[in-house]
Amino acid sequence: MPSQTKITSFADYQLLVSEHVYDPAEDSFLLAENLTVKRGDYVLDMGTGCGILAVVAAEKASKVVAVDISPYAVRCAKENAKANHVAGKTSVVQGDLFTPIRTAEEFDLILFNAPYLPSTNIQEGSWLERAWAGGKGGRQVIDRFVCESPKYLKKGGSILLMQSTLSDVHETLHRFRRRGLEADILAKHALPFFETIVLVKAKQLS
Ligand SMILES: C[S@@+](CC[C@H](N)C(=O)[O-])C[C@H]1O[C@@H](n2cnc3c(N)ncnc32)[C@H](O)[C@@H]1O
Repeated sequence: MPSQTKITSFADYQLLVSEHVYDPAEDSFLLAENLTVKRGDYVLDMGTGCGILAVVAAEKASKVVAVDISPYAVRCAKENAKANHVAGKTSVVQGDLFTPIRTAEEFDLILFNAPYLPSTNIQEGSWLERAWAGGKGGRQVIDRFVCESPKYLKKGGSILLMQSTLSDVHETLHRFRRRGLEADILAKHALPFFETIVLVKAKQLS
């Protein structure tokens, strides 16, 4: 194991997390606990980080595509898919949001524990800062995701998006609804210092 790598556990899963990669936290766990993957689902895990959500989803999914902008995260998620015996049905690719996904691709479920905290210029940050930095108002990546994700969803498919009250949850609900999706809050968890993490579920009507 490289010196700056730690091990994080969730349920029966063990994940290696390298020093440049987001260490799964309350937001990762809240999303993982609310993950309902049906047997045979085709799942997209956007911003996979160490691959925690991809690995959990792969237990029931027929296939999981995992995307991350960080080359460190891609390497780490590949290792964790292998270590948790789901590499055969997990494909991990590097790219900015949907750029590595073919336009005709449609998923049953799209997950994103997004970078949602208000910050200054995202591009100037380290790979680790880009795991949490959401730019002005915390919505720079979220808004692009909300705009693009419905195109990649099957009829009846769902999106689970994790963000926080610091990045305007109502704006997210409003933007999904404007695109014709049903959108609601599925779960939330209060953190210290006046922040609540919020899991939004958006569903494409069949
Ligand atoms: C909060 S972390 C979540 C990691 C993991 N899914 C989890 O729940 O622990 C956000 C992840 O999104 C990735 N990310 C940030 N901007 C991205 C973008 N534009 N396209 C793809 N991935 C991005 C980051 O590199 C980071 O791994």
